[in-house]
Amino acid sequence: RPAVVDSVAALRARIRDWRRDGLRVAMVPTMGALHEGHLSLIRIARERAERCVVSIFVNPTQFAPSEDLDKYPRQLARDLDMLATARADLAFTPTVDAMYPAGFATRISVGGPSAGLESDFRPTFFDGVATVVAKLFLQATPDYAVFGEKDYQQLCVVRQLCRDIDLPVEIIGAPTIRDAHGLAMSSRNAYLGEAELQIARQLNVVLRKTAAALAAGADQKDTIAEARRTLIAAGFHTVDYVEARESLTLGPWRHDRAGRILAAAWLGKTRLIDNVEVPTA
Ligand code: PAJ
Repeated sequence: RPAVVDSVAALRARIRDWRRDGLRVAMVPTMGALHEGHLSLIRIARERAERCVVSIFVNPTQFAPSEDLDKYPRQLARDLDMLATARADLAFTPTVDAMYPAGFATRISVGGPSAGLESDFRPTFFDGVATVVAKLFLQATPDYAVFGEKDYQQLCVVRQLCRDIDLPVEIIGAPTIRDAHGLAMSSRNAYLGEAELQIARQLNVVLRKTAAALAAGADQKDTIAEARRTLIAAGFHTVDYVEARESLTLGPWRHDRAGRILAAAWLGKTRLIDNVEVPTA
């Protein structure tokens, strides 16, 4: 198992020792309930840097009061076993009080790519993410940090954050790891029953078809409307959004630009997100 630290002072001491030995450091921020998606990020981190620190922290500031903060799976012992398999060097497992002591009163709010999509349905989500990611980066001062394309808008927001406030961390985007049926791995998939799992797998199927249609020149508005109808017909009871966006800025997409289709949809009480690239002609 990797070494585990739960205070910022202990984290900094470890990292100071690595730096004294001239080692580069890569960070993988997570909320735990680790799966193959997270482990793939650790492998990428290890290709870049001699040392890899993984944070495990279910960040309350990115959950709205109505969301699944209390229900979010917590399984530290199992997570640490998985970190051992992936050969992470250090786990940082701060408490909520250590991250947000009484009187904590700062929020970091990133504009640009945070507009729309997730923010239309989770208006305070990216403030919570940006605040905790900025703290983690200042605590660990990594050279690199790896984020999954699974949360594509989050990846764009984190890049914007680092650029805007000069956080000297190189952000590496990592491809989405999926099950054999195309379903993106997610800690929230644990909430799904067998019947829901079958429906969930349609999300990626529909997005890939939509991307292929757009790449072939189909009308954007019609194709997106069709995607929404197909998701509902497949069994999703609510589709929060399906949209084509420009890959880098997440601004509006036009056929001559690199594009991404992003979606969020509900199955019972579980909200799933996914996104795919629009292949360029
Ligand atoms: P969490 O959902 O635990 O995800 C941690 C990282 O794993 C994120 O960068 C996410 O994009 C990546 N990830 C999740 N599923 C993946 C998959 N199937 N394939 C590839 N990467 C995947 O995202 C968060 O935590 C939090 O918002 C956090 C950034 C830690 C801030 O609290």
